[in-house]
Amino acid sequence: MTGAGTETPPILPPAFNPVFFDKVDSTNEVAKGLAEKGAADGTLVWAREQTKGRGRRGKDWASPPGNLYLSLVLRPDCPLTAAPQLGFATALAIGHAIGSVCPPLIAVTYKWPNDVLVNDRKAAGILLESKADASGALEWLVIGVGANVASHPEGTVFPATDLHFEGSLESEVTVEALLGAFCRQLLTWVNSWLDDGFAPLKRAWLGHAHRLGERVTLRLADREMSGIFRDLDENGALLLELDDGSVTTVTAAEVSYGA
Ligand code: BTN
Repeated sequence: MTGAGTETPPILPPAFNPVFFDKVDSTNEVAKGLAEKGAADGTLVWAREQTKGRGRRGKDWASPPGNLYLSLVLRPDCPLTAAPQLGFATALAIGHAIGSVCPPLIAVTYKWPNDVLVNDRKAAGILLESKADASGALEWLVIGVGANVASHPEGTVFPATDLHFEGSLESEVTVEALLGAFCRQLLTWVNSWLDDGFAPLKRAWLGHAHRLGERVTLRLADREMSGIFRDLDENGALLLELDDGSVTTVTAAEVSYGA
């Protein structure tokens, strides 16, 4: 881990306590360590580069300089089961932040559970990690965000992209600009969640959901299921209509194209 505090951070809303690094193994690892030591709600770990960036389902997250890597510690007063709802708040915040710093030609959509697509390719991903107390209440939540600004990995199962590739070079989108816009957007969406619950987030997310109402294949840990992506439940699980007309609730899977 190098360079703690040496970067000049962008100005962030006062709700955030930023901790900046040139290079870390994984901002999620750093944030989880800080959370365990009692770091306050709003602690935000940002690094220019990661050497062991992690994605969902045990995958690596390529993390060269030029892209956005951050992890935020939150301590909302809610049960562990409600934590996934904040993944949707985060996806909406990234989507709206991209919309605010990029040209209007860019089309942002959301792929369940927490990917943000630009022109149908993955531009950002979210990794949620949490700890609950003995009663099932959330003790801390770490929300890790990786957003491709200047580069994207090649050869991924689901195609990836980055903001410069999608044509925003002219507008000189920077990591700092995206970070600032993301923090402002996240405040809006988290405050909406605190005031009005998950329903407004669910509505906003479904309004731009990738493959909603279409046939999808879901890759679960041990099997695959196909059906129509119908809706989200009250915690953000995917509601899949099977061929016999029944609807099943899926909490963790990878969505791939259906047949
Ligand atoms: C995904 O698989 O889509 C989630 C990717 C999450 C990557 C981010 S980068 C910042 C934070 N630190 C990590 O090691 N992972 C997350």
